[in-house]
Amino acid sequence: MSDIILIHGGAGSDSSYTERLMGYAKASFMRGSALDSVVEAVRIMEDDPAFNAGTGSVKRLDGSIQMDAAVMTPDSIGSVVNIERVRNPILVARAVMEKTPHVMLSGDGATEFARRLGFPDYDPSTPRTEELYRKAIAAIMGKDKNAPDKYINYRRFAEILGIPKNKDTVGAVARINGKFAAAVSTGGSSPMMRGRVGDSPIPGAGLYAGERGAVVATGIGEEIIKRTLCYRVYQQIGSDDLSSILMREIEKFGNTLVGLIALSDDSMAAHSNSSMATGYAEFGK
Ligand code: GLY
Repeated sequence: MSDIILIHGGAGSDSSYTERLMGYAKASFMRGSALDSVVEAVRIMEDDPAFNAGTGSVKRLDGSIQMDAAVMTPDSIGSVVNIERVRNPILVARAVMEKTPHVMLSGDGATEFARRLGFPDYDPSTPRTEELYRKAIAAIMGKDKNAPDKYINYRRFAEILGIPKNKDTVGAVARINGKFAAAVSTGGSSPMMRGRVGDSPIPGAGLYAGERGAVVATGIGEEIIKRTLCYRVYQQIGSDDLSSILMREIEKFGNTLVGLIALSDDSMAAHSNSSMATGYAEFGK
């Protein structure tokens, strides 16, 4: 069985990022364990402002940035929900897993926990996220005269705003020495209310890792949560070709943005109903 790491830059991400992600996969794979590798891959992508995770995370409708991240192995899980002003939410998610009796911390509690561990205050916004936010608010407040309220009917707003498609969750799955791990990080699916929680930090929805494989999702979190998507895929591993399993589940989303990456004992697969940049590194084949 070869060792492998497979990563993605989000459903809707431009395929021009593929070369960059191949480099990130190789750089993170060298760390030696599936857990170390997926966390390192996601940390690297969080630091790249091209992706909607860590630095470059999109703003909520109130202008704040709240981020979600999670890591999972067959034995454990750590997750942060709506954490603010940290550079690498994935490192805090791992700390939740390894340094607390809990599996999930949210909001102020997650941010305070990060500070106690020495993660400094950090502003993840970039000129691009500022510009996106300015445009979104201008469109909501100005152009749509029929908008009933800026805090409802977000799907309609998303169409009106032409919310950019090249920004979503980043994720990684790895199989190293026969062990699986999955990690994911996101600034969320814009437009969204402060406090909104997507699929990424929810085990079974945005990620799953077990003895037979690892799965990570990207796309519109609400729809992914409704389907418990990653656990649903995981349960089917071995029943059919991995690629076919992913395609079947993605078809059920119709036009709703979604993407999946997955590894089993003998396969890797990545599919999306939009463009999705991916990269991988494989050793010992
Ligand atoms: N898939 C990221 C989110 O919906 O928050």
